[in-house]
Amino acid sequence: MKKVLLVTGGAGYIGSHVVKQLLKEDVYKVVVVDNLSTGFLKTIETLKNIKDFSFFKEDLKNTLQIEEIIKANKVSGVLHFAGSLIVPESISDPLKYYFNNVSNSISLITLCQKYSVSKFIFSSTAAVYGDVKEQNMPVTEELKTNPITPYGTSKLMVEQILSSIDRINNNFNFVSLRYFNVAGSDPEGLIGQSTLNSTHLLKVAAMSATNQQQSMNIFGNDYPTKDKTCIRDFIHVSDLADAHIKSLDFLDKNKSSIFNCGYGKGYSVLEIVNAMKKVSGVDFGVKFSDRRKGDIVSMVSDNSKIKKDISWIPKYEDINFICKTTLDWEKVLIKDSK
Ligand SMILES: NC(=O)c1ccc[n+]([C@@H]2O[C@H](COP(=O)([O-])OP(=O)(O)OC[C@H]3O[C@@H](n4cnc5c(N)ncnc54)[C@H](O)[C@@H]3O)[C@@H](O)[C@H]2O)c1
Repeated sequence: MKKVLLVTGGAGYIGSHVVKQLLKEDVYKVVVVDNLSTGFLKTIETLKNIKDFSFFKEDLKNTLQIEEIIKANKVSGVLHFAGSLIVPESISDPLKYYFNNVSNSISLITLCQKYSVSKFIFSSTAAVYGDVKEQNMPVTEELKTNPITPYGTSKLMVEQILSSIDRINNNFNFVSLRYFNVAGSDPEGLIGQSTLNSTHLLKVAAMSATNQQQSMNIFGNDYPTKDKTCIRDFIHVSDLADAHIKSLDFLDKNKSSIFNCGYGKGYSVLEIVNAMKKVSGVDFGVKFSDRRKGDIVSMVSDNSKIKKDISWIPKYEDINFICKTTLDWEKVLIKDSK
């Protein structure tokens, strides 16, 4: 009989790409829980056309209902994507972040203990490292964590909770994946980032390239970098999805671990904007405004650990391809809205 995986946040951007790969590989039975706060029912319907699976529109805070889902479906593994993730919002409304990202994770991990769930894959973030000095770049997993926003702190707290449980329960193992900047969309064009009011750089650039907004803002052009804009490490969402599948396999034979997920190469915000202009052929307007609270100067991963330990081999390590799939998905959204 197939083992059952619970995917929280499977109607969202990253979760849906992982669900797609899980359905295609057909090794596990998939159960998705999502409250559709930022996820979409349409994404679930599209995924169900690949292969049917159980979907529950439920909030993680409803512990009794979540317990029933875990119990009735005999869940043995969890991929936990559900959460809140807008960094500036986490500064203005920290309790929302501690509640949704920490309290709800504690409830979920508690149920995992009660129902002997053995594998847990957690969506963490490079924000746990905080504002890293240039001499510590690229960032390895060993670097001391020092988050500077409630968002980053909330994710680090969950990692620490998972580590504490790991110490006392030999039958529970987790992988925490520290995502760097996730971008792009499904190369087959079935799913993508549909998030409304997104502040995501690539998405905003694609919206500008498709005339959905007159110009785009670049926050800060006085950073100590080559072109004075921030540096980020962008990873294609389908390569990231693959890292989740490989992490599940890794836990068959290995103990808990933490991995950076990035390509190990930094691009400036301006370079990304220019790549989107080139790929789209549209010279959209760009405005510079003040730095945004919580933004760090530069963040690039050292990805040697994930490549070595789980044999992760990225397939889409190309910034033009990342721009192209982002743009293609934006065009699908425009077509669907007509
Ligand atoms: N997008 C990135 O660049 C990035 C970077 C680092 C980490 N992450 C982490 O990856 C995860 C997924 O991010 P995403 O970009 O796919 O975001 P998303 O908003 O598209 O997906 C999150 C999903 O979780 C659901 N959700 C939120 N709170 C819930 C709750 N209480 N109960 C049930 N469902 C709930 C939402 O409806 C949504 O479908 C998040 O945990 C985020 O912190 C994302």
